[in-house]
Amino acid sequence: MDVAPVGSLRGRNLIKAADLSPAEVGRVFETAATLKAEFLVDRRHAEPPLVRRSLAMLFERPSLRTRVTFEAGMLQLGGGAIQLTAGNVGWGVRESVADVARNLQAFVDGIVIRTGPHEIAEELAARAAVPVINALTRHEHPCQALADVFTLREVFGSLAGRVVTFVGDGNNVFHSLATVVAGQGATVRLAHPAGYGPDPAVVASARAIGAAHGGWVDVGIDPRAAVEGADVIYTDSWTSMGQEDEAAVREQAFRGFQVDEELCRVAGPQARVMHCLPAHREQEITSEVMDGPRSLVFQQSENRLHVQKGLLVELLGGRPPGTG
Ligand code: CP
Ligand code: NVA
Repeated sequence: MDVAPVGSLRGRNLIKAADLSPAEVGRVFETAATLKAEFLVDRRHAEPPLVRRSLAMLFERPSLRTRVTFEAGMLQLGGGAIQLTAGNVGWGVRESVADVARNLQAFVDGIVIRTGPHEIAEELAARAAVPVINALTRHEHPCQALADVFTLREVFGSLAGRVVTFVGDGNNVFHSLATVVAGQGATVRLAHPAGYGPDPAVVASARAIGAAHGGWVDVGIDPRAAVEGADVIYTDSWTSMGQEDEAAVREQAFRGFQVDEELCRVAGPQARVMHCLPAHREQEITSEVMDGPRSLVFQQSENRLHVQKGLLVELLGGRPPGTG
């Protein structure tokens, strides 16, 4: 796998998964792997690379994993994070996104944002002079995809020629995952209920990235056909944040898309199972699968910490780990 040079990501934004080339993803993974190995020794870094750096975190939606891993990650790297909610900031109400960017860039070294409209994250990134990281919008969840693919590389080594099947909603998590997985030379398959497919522009972009690296994206509606021979089955909640009003309709539409032991048996004994969490047990995934030997879900979650730390060091321009 190609790996971009140390320092080449300094000052960059991560708003959509395609913002990082596969070689740049490799750069983040290398730094993340070094940080993870260091951290697992005694849960600290002897020479933290982001001493006295600061991060503003604008969270308009609930979060456990993303919020805690960014905040704990900054602390572990020697810096700190400031949590703000939409009510604190009031972008678009109290002041414009451009003015928020202009203020924050003077105070902190980076900004993390979780909001519904993807355009707000894009506008913040376009306006701010410091790196902006998308911590989830309706359209993308790139930090999740990086942690997921890092996890898959820990499990499988190279992903070239592997098959990763997503069963469920063609949503933000699928968009980012398909982009990063295709860039690793793997085939992505999606099985979704009619009317819940992905953005065709993201599929086209992921296919173009995949074509240059031996990967591909197939979109269909039959979960059993999609999982056959798959190395990985991935699922996410049927109702994403902000769609709560549609929950009853979605529950009907997604019947038949549950990841249970029977679907896993169709895939084969090799199939591992992933979920970004939070999970709705016995809805999109059964506890038998989620807590069973195929499951990678808590390894994915743990890797949110290490991969985002790698990302922070690379984008905020910290000294590479191990170079004390
Ligand atoms: N997977 C994920 O992003 O979890 P949170 O919503 O808890 O941050
Ligand atoms: N698709 C889900 C992911 C949660 C991490 C959502 O947007 O709510």
